[in-house]
Amino acid sequence: MEALHVGLAGFGTVGTGVAKILLEEAAWLERRSGRQVRLKRIADLDLERDRGVRLDEVQTSARVEDILEDPEIRVMIELIGGIEPAKSFVLEAIAAGKHVVTANKALLASHGTELFQAAEAKGVQIGFEASVAGGIPIVRSLREGLAADQIHSIAGIINGTANYILSTMTEQGLEFPECLQQAQEKGYAEADPSLDIEGQDTAHKLAILIGLAYGVQVKPDAIFTEGIQRITGMDIRYARDLGYRIKLLALSKIQDGEFEARVHPTMISQSHLLASVGQAFNAVYAAGRSTGPVMFYGKGAGMMPTGSAVVSDLVSLARMMDQGKANDLPSLGFYGKFPQDARLRPMEELVSKYYMRFPVVDRPGVLSKISGILGEHGISIHSVIQKGRQEAGPVHIIMLTHEARERDVQHALEVIDLLEVALDKCLFIRIEDSVDPSHIEPA
Ligand code: HSE
Repeated sequence: MEALHVGLAGFGTVGTGVAKILLEEAAWLERRSGRQVRLKRIADLDLERDRGVRLDEVQTSARVEDILEDPEIRVMIELIGGIEPAKSFVLEAIAAGKHVVTANKALLASHGTELFQAAEAKGVQIGFEASVAGGIPIVRSLREGLAADQIHSIAGIINGTANYILSTMTEQGLEFPECLQQAQEKGYAEADPSLDIEGQDTAHKLAILIGLAYGVQVKPDAIFTEGIQRITGMDIRYARDLGYRIKLLALSKIQDGEFEARVHPTMISQSHLLASVGQAFNAVYAAGRSTGPVMFYGKGAGMMPTGSAVVSDLVSLARMMDQGKANDLPSLGFYGKFPQDARLRPMEELVSKYYMRFPVVDRPGVLSKISGILGEHGISIHSVIQKGRQEAGPVHIIMLTHEARERDVQHALEVIDLLEVALDKCLFIRIEDSVDPSHIEPA
């Protein structure tokens, strides 16, 4: 049977994983695909670095055009990352009638509609299993396994770097900078790690999940996004003492034609299943009308898990190659136009419980001043902790609130942050206890 020839654009961490799997597990892949999947070309600007892969039978060059112009290549694997030039190369590959497999969540989240439309018009596929949660097959699960279910909520830990940092801070008592450095050394982080720690990478992936789960389009910029860079070892310890863990969560719920999409550090009960997702592991929880909650767990970043997800898309394409089936599958699993009228609920309307840490001068009346301002904004305090005075520096007043409206919290904190006794801005973390997969009811 005719082999499926593929070209790899971008020979970084994930590209190396893809090459290793294609070259070292060729016999296994042939059994799975029904034909050979042959890595014919690799294009990358750096071909000198030793990646520990033997490329004797692969043609290498610095030009992606060498892949685009090769008629024998049926699939271009785009692992360049970022928007340009990746987007142009993807469009050129589609125009040349090639399928595309990509792990590029930033590109799909921002320009997915245009790329999917171009692919569908040309009768080729864009495979993107690797774009969300690395080795976890969440794209196929939402598009196929859960196709009959109307998903109404998603909660995910979908950035390995952020989860590694928060888990290592929790488990080893380390501070943020050294944990970030460890995550970078392990190859989890993006080329620009600010995308990981400021939450944009999570927002990109959440935008893709929302498209797959609800058939609704949302631009990543419209998703409220807050990163983990202000979380300190002290917040981690207080959270633990209070029975919580801090996780960077991607959250989305849909109800009555309105949906919510947000990414922020979140305190969840330590008994919550998501609380036990440590290191660079990812987990996606989704709840649907018929199936109820399901949860997926696995490695969300790194060379081999993400490489395996890329190659799984090649196997799917190889299986469909001669059957013409690739031509009419909708990319996100919905036929017809995306509804344009779903309203994204503004963040100010969120109702949540909050953890607040106020670094203040230790002086009589400070606690009552802060609680008075919260009270004036209709925010009710659940509990307060203030540990003993340090030799130098601020004291930290910790408060947990009852349910409060985000708008009121923002207004109250603007006033408190301007107090003369406030030595730094209040650090606050939203507490989530409405999505709880540990409460899966037996049928
Ligand atoms: N930088 C990403 C992460 C890689 O840490 O999860 C996978 O998208």
